[in-house]
Amino acid sequence: MNPAGRGLLVMASSSPHVRLIGIVILTSKAYTHMKVFITRRLLGLDEYIAQYGLGTAEIDIWEGSLPPSYEELVRRSKGCDGVLTVLTEKIDAAYMDAAATLKVISQCAVGVNNIDLKAATERGIPVGNTPGVLTEATADIAFALLISAARHIVAGTEYIKADKWKTWDPLLLLGQQVWGATLGIIGYGRIGKAMAKRGKGFNMRVLAYSRTLTAEEAANDGVEAASMDEVLREADFVSLHTPLTKDTHHLISTRELQLMKPNAILINTARGEVVDPAALYAVLKQEPTKIAALDVTEPEPMPADHPLLTLPNCLIVPHLGSATNQTRREMTRLAVANLAAGLRGEPLLHRAN
Ligand code: NAP
Ligand code: GLV
Repeated sequence: MNPAGRGLLVMASSSPHVRLIGIVILTSKAYTHMKVFITRRLLGLDEYIAQYGLGTAEIDIWEGSLPPSYEELVRRSKGCDGVLTVLTEKIDAAYMDAAATLKVISQCAVGVNNIDLKAATERGIPVGNTPGVLTEATADIAFALLISAARHIVAGTEYIKADKWKTWDPLLLLGQQVWGATLGIIGYGRIGKAMAKRGKGFNMRVLAYSRTLTAEEAANDGVEAASMDEVLREADFVSLHTPLTKDTHHLISTRELQLMKPNAILINTARGEVVDPAALYAVLKQEPTKIAALDVTEPEPMPADHPLLTLPNCLIVPHLGSATNQTRREMTRLAVANLAAGLRGEPLLHRAN
């Protein structure tokens, strides 16, 4: 990809090195006197700042391992032309009014539920995000949670560490068969489809629900379009892949959890708030053969004394969906590219509003 997004010097030389240096010099000037706040140290950040010619901008990077407070976020963003955010930052209308000179908000994530998109649009601020590059890594962790929960991987490790492994036991930690089971996808978008492909690789029947999914589109992918209730009733594994919106907030609550099969496993790699945590606790406690495997939680981070963590049938990991070296670097690259394009007043590579 051409990091600069323009090609005036391209014709001047056939050497790719001369061309790249030319492009960077040309576009670097575009960022002189510009101010940017980056709310977290990201993998490959310095490299991509240089690659996209942003080195001439005044760049302020939050180096804390915990996110800046809202007050600090506002303070550091005032007078900035651009901000590069992650999903822990609350980017609301009041923030945008305080940081009134912003030309672009670039989020290093695909989910943008932490950003008031309507407020950004009303203020003419483009919001960038990083779809696609994290699809496979996130589907990988969803499938890893599925197998781990089905086959008691974590419980098995804990069993050995507790010095309980005395013999091969024909009845020890019996789990659910994954091969040939029924997988239900709620939110059949990029990650939902990638999850469906993994299910098909395991010879699964795949049921999918999305508001606009047609039977024909589903059939083309070798999956079956179903209503949400059909997915919940028929699937052995239900995997959530919707964005968090007003419509999907607590989409899965008591009724939905009770509709699920007695041995069903719920996997959530979408957003914690898509599942009602109080309802989940109550149903998992009442029906111990049901299992939840969560990459995302409400609240997030989840405190160590949260009731869900007391349940043996609830497996939780700390929001690791996109957490591979390769994917996190690609996310950084895309977020920096969106930032650079927005600072130049050019179309973002991926715009969420
Ligand atoms: P996407 O391609 O936009 O897919 C989302 C799908 O959800 C769409 O197909 C949409 O289809 C469907 N949907 C939206 N509202 C719905 C509703 N009310 N009921 C049922 N389906 C609904 O997005 P993606 O790239 O797959 O990402 C999905 C989400 O995953 C992100 O928004 C993010 O929150 C989460 N995520 C988490 C991690 C992680 O680290 N755990 C990593 C990446 C992404 P219709 O419009 O047809 O309904
Ligand atoms: C991660 O959760 C993302 O939305 O990219």
